[in-house]
Amino acid sequence: MSPTVEIHLPADHAARALAADVRSGLAASPKSLPPKWFYDARGSELFDAITRLPEYYPTRAEAEILRAHAADIAATTGAHTLVELGSGSSEKTRLLLTALRDAGSLRSIVALDVSESALREATAALSQEYPLAEVRGVVGDFTEHLALVPGEPPRMVAFLGSTIGNLLPDERAKFLGALRGTLLPGEWLLLGTDLVKDRDTLVRAYDDGAGVTADFNRNVLRVLNRELRADFDVEAFEHVAVWDAEQEWIEMRLRSVRAQRVEIAELGMTVDFAEGEELRTETSAKFRRDGITEELATAGFTVHRWWTDAENRFALSLSRAE
Ligand code: SAH
Ligand code: TRP
Repeated sequence: MSPTVEIHLPADHAARALAADVRSGLAASPKSLPPKWFYDARGSELFDAITRLPEYYPTRAEAEILRAHAADIAATTGAHTLVELGSGSSEKTRLLLTALRDAGSLRSIVALDVSESALREATAALSQEYPLAEVRGVVGDFTEHLALVPGEPPRMVAFLGSTIGNLLPDERAKFLGALRGTLLPGEWLLLGTDLVKDRDTLVRAYDDGAGVTADFNRNVLRVLNRELRADFDVEAFEHVAVWDAEQEWIEMRLRSVRAQRVEIAELGMTVDFAEGEELRTETSAKFRRDGITEELATAGFTVHRWWTDAENRFALSLSRAE
């Protein structure tokens, strides 16, 4: 079966949302941009390169957990539909899909991502590899479009890669509540969360020696140049990754190496950067078992299983919608 890719949004939705985010984010103090705009085709490829970096342990740690427990997850959930949010290349997801297929329960696969290019590639590959499952891709924003998620119950929603950490605490609460609202009691959430650990390991994961993460971070400026006819001198911003020990999150920033003025033609907007001024592009929260268990409980999920990798760097939890 060939996959379907559904775009439920009006053609100009992304353009309008980007314009609104840039207008408010670059007029604010401190300046900031939401992370979803990293992921054009090049951004999605750069992220895949990040997952293969020696410093970026989360992908390997999460894959280790999935390899060890996929059969248990399949047996426990008996899911007919696997829904993946922020699916990207759906690389690790295959461990789950294979286990669900082997357990005989897999009927359909739904992948939702803002990156249409990543989604088209991933769904094409998945429908080849799982020919008996119906494969659907949904281009959308998981903070807005959960109601669009189709699929036959019982469903398991996989939200991997600690992407939940890229939401701020209030956004996270809203997201988990909305997700619970789209599920029936007894359906499942499989959540990947990176854990609090020593500062050096964390900072290195977000500031690698080869500069791939720096390139990824700066990609958001290229997106603005192309989509909004902005004139950012991309090389005049340097990548900064800081561990905030109080909030327990990594903050990614772009620091202006000199005083500069940027024109954003499409918005008729001029933005001044002082030398050394930082633009926040992403936070990546790190979790503790008690904290995330409580956040899940508040949203109406009960943590049923909790696994970590051998080095206790990353956790995968399987929760039931109550
Ligand atoms: N799940 C993959 C990819 C993680 S990177 C992994 O674990 O390796 C984060 C993914 O989420 C990217 O594919 C990005 O395009 C997508 N994404 C980021 N913000 C999003 C949003 N608001 N709505 C939908 N997808 C989003
Ligand atoms: N979800 C990933 C994380 O928080 C996203 C990510 C990894 C990322 N490396 C990054 C985002 C570098 C921005 C910059 O780990």
